[in-house]
Amino acid sequence: MKTVKWVAVATMLATVLFGCAQTPPASQTRTFKDGELPVPPNYKSWPKFLSEIQRTDTKQVREIYINPIGHTTKMGEDFPNGTISVMEIYKAREAADGTPLKGADGKFVKGELLKVAVMGKGADWGDSVTPPALRNGDWVYSMYMADGKTKAPDELSTCRACHLPLKDKDYIFRYDEYFQKRSDNSKSGG
Ligand code: HEC
Repeated sequence: MKTVKWVAVATMLATVLFGCAQTPPASQTRTFKDGELPVPPNYKSWPKFLSEIQRTDTKQVREIYINPIGHTTKMGEDFPNGTISVMEIYKAREAADGTPLKGADGKFVKGELLKVAVMGKGADWGDSVTPPALRNGDWVYSMYMADGKTKAPDELSTCRACHLPLKDKDYIFRYDEYFQKRSDNSKSGG
């Protein structure tokens, strides 16, 4: 009798555990268009794509994260469907006269978070893009204010237009820099 009970429990547990492990993230089960992809709540726990990008032109510091699916990519490959990239855009702190402050390391001092950009790709997500000439493969774009929820006023076709020439790098500007700096390059994909 006892054995039977345990088998039932074990089967149930296995179903639950197996079921969880099998559940793909939402980014793989539904289609997103521009402006629809939310800021994933856990992105700060993701692998860092690049840190402390110094944008002297816009006086900004940027932090880019990539989800674990995207992080499995090897140099030379496109990012797989299910990849999501999140970029935090911070204002560089300024002195009273408007010149950006610099730390002992010569880098900008990170000020307030201005916006959070999201890029993600999935099977056929690019199909919804008009005009088709602005298609960036199957990537879609969203831009949020600092709270990560309020949509930023940015026209999302401008994202596409600027990233479009990067076709050879899967539309990712700092593709080479990422793979060159990534510490676990040798282990990637395995
Ligand atoms: C004028 C060019 C330009 C426009 C417009 C632009 N981007 Fe980018 N984007 C860049 C550059 C350059 C980078 C690399 C980081 C850096 O140098 O700031 C980047 C990086 C990113 C990243 C990090 C992943 C990656 O591709 O490296 C995301 C996410 C992103 N942009 C989203 C957006 C969204 C969303 C919009 C529109 C609201 C947008 N971008 C508009 C130039 C642009």
